[in-house]
Amino acid sequence: MASEESHMAVTCTAPVNIAVIKYWGKRDEELILPINSSLSVTLHQDQLKTTTTAVISKAFTEDRIWLNGQEEDIGQPRIQACLREIRRLARKRRSGDEKDPLPLSPSYKVHIASVNNFPTAAGLASSAAGYACLAYALAQVYGVESDLSEVARRGSGSACRSLYGGFVEWQMGERTDGKDSIARQVAPESHWPELRVLILVVSAEKKLTGSTVGMQTSVETSALLKFRAEVVVPARMADMIRCVKENNFQGFGQLTMKDSNQFHATCLDTFPPISYLNDTSRRIIHLVHRFNAHYGQTKVAYTFDAGPNAVIFTLDDTVAEFVAAVKHSFPPESNGDKFVKGLPVRPASLSDELKAALGMNPIPGSIKYIIATQVGPGPQILDHPDAHLLGPDGLPKSVA
Ligand code: DP6
Repeated sequence: MASEESHMAVTCTAPVNIAVIKYWGKRDEELILPINSSLSVTLHQDQLKTTTTAVISKAFTEDRIWLNGQEEDIGQPRIQACLREIRRLARKRRSGDEKDPLPLSPSYKVHIASVNNFPTAAGLASSAAGYACLAYALAQVYGVESDLSEVARRGSGSACRSLYGGFVEWQMGERTDGKDSIARQVAPESHWPELRVLILVVSAEKKLTGSTVGMQTSVETSALLKFRAEVVVPARMADMIRCVKENNFQGFGQLTMKDSNQFHATCLDTFPPISYLNDTSRRIIHLVHRFNAHYGQTKVAYTFDAGPNAVIFTLDDTVAEFVAAVKHSFPPESNGDKFVKGLPVRPASLSDELKAALGMNPIPGSIKYIIATQVGPGPQILDHPDAHLLGPDGLPKSVA
């Protein structure tokens, strides 16, 4: 963190999260208030993260933003909502504390640069990490210390869950002003060290229906979604929190799969219907159920967001064999040596019994690659000035 009288720069990182009880549907589009609570697992930033630098300076004449090296329109309503909200909180803090040590004014303009360490288009919830990182970085430069759920949420609902590590609940809240719609940690990242996450990247294409529009249509047309939000999710949240606290993988895995399936059922119940899964997604579902049936227990669980990629949860003792089962059913096309990225996965051979139980015709190339990761911590501040994506002039550092 560098601070002078009229200039301050901070660089932060923030994680991706994957919901095991899904958020789908808003009761307030402007404030981004959900129709049900949700629960997610924060993924480790060693594999997936957003890095954001925010610089404020008396010398800047306008707010500006660069995403993955390209200057973007700072006027986008959701970015504007985050900026407005952080400046409001900064002013509130100043007026409430006369001995305010912060020399910089909330009205100073900000330059922001943000990069992902993974392909944005891979459909890996980049907006959640992006807006959590934006909220966190802005809070540092403007000296905001209050809860940042509201700031991140105004960018993207699911982003408020990326403000914490481990297992995170987004409580839907009841108030119309959204003050009680906040994220809270249910258990820290150290709570379940055996838990592993495999992201099976099926397609890097951009999706047909974005989450924002998709959930809007679902709220308008799906009776199943209404039932889900009012009846199913409240009971499921309580069950899921219990399973997490008790490190109960059977319960956690089954609820995770059922909730993913119900979310996709509400998408089909939407009119016109939305389908995010493709044939490969459905084959992965089949593979997981066959694998579990072979062992007579839930050893592996899947979940899918608004796209065809699968996120698999399992325990460390099952990773090698399940990855071997994936390779057997979806043989890598040309990148055999780079098929598994992230945490190291040792090679394993499959028994003939298991191969027979999987009973699938191999389909080469339909899974592009796997990212092996685990549960991780929340946003971090990078102290080293070299980490800044913007130079002292507030412009992107040229990459040599
Ligand atoms: C399927 O948070 O992307 O990933 O609030 O409109 O930005 P907006 O939607 P977004 O929706 C995420 C939907 C989901 C489920 C989840 O993450 O809970």
